[in-house]
Amino acid sequence: MASKSKLQKFAELADNPIVFQKNPILKGKWHADYFKNNNPIVLELACGKGDYTLGMAKLFPEKNFIGVDIKGNRIWSAARIANLEGLQHVAFIREQIDLLYNYFEEAEVDEIWITFSDPFLRDGDAKKRLTSTKFLPIYKQILKPGGLIHLKTDSDVLYAFTKETLAEFPSSIVKDYSDVYAMQKNDELHGIQTYYEKMHLKDKRTIKYLCFQLQ
Ligand SMILES: C[S@@+](CC[C@H](N)C(=O)[O-])C[C@H]1O[C@@H](n2cnc3c(N)ncnc32)[C@H](O)[C@@H]1O
Repeated sequence: MASKSKLQKFAELADNPIVFQKNPILKGKWHADYFKNNNPIVLELACGKGDYTLGMAKLFPEKNFIGVDIKGNRIWSAARIANLEGLQHVAFIREQIDLLYNYFEEAEVDEIWITFSDPFLRDGDAKKRLTSTKFLPIYKQILKPGGLIHLKTDSDVLYAFTKETLAEFPSSIVKDYSDVYAMQKNDELHGIQTYYEKMHLKDKRTIKYLCFQLQ
């Protein structure tokens, strides 16, 4: 079968009831109107093909999972798998993470994963990094007090930048693994490997992990 064109995929995305794009209708209503339960909501930011969203959804049926990314192609792949596997407690948002506060009420979210987000290596682009001071206040607003944020990255720049940023921002680092695999910690991170993570591991790059809370 010929693979689908971008246009076909985008048409399917628009019709998929588990995908929300440019339409924050569920702000403050995710529990009541979408998940129809009161279980914790976990976000995966920069989710790409949604490996953590899908992987954790299978491991933790008692939680709700929402993947967020701006790339329609990748969200299409993720949503297709969620549909095929009948995962009822999963949704995807195709949007700029900068606009997350439009989609979630204060303290509506329990936990955030940031998986292999772009490191934006040029100094002038540091504000675009998902752990910059542009984004941390957004996470603080939508997270429950004490909600955990997990960062998994191959980037030395993003890892060091995040620690420097947190040193200046009211926060505490809960866990810091400078080499997830040498320290044998990936099982603790649910044993999941993302699409980009697998490529980085092939290239023998070191995977780093930070878990932190904002105050
Ligand atoms: C390197 S990919 C990682 C994808 C996936 N997490 C993985 O590990 O395979 C980074 C993703 O972050 C998304 N991204 C980066 N900045 C974003 C932003 N401000 N808003 C939405 N998505 C963003 C990109 O679209 C891209 O899909």
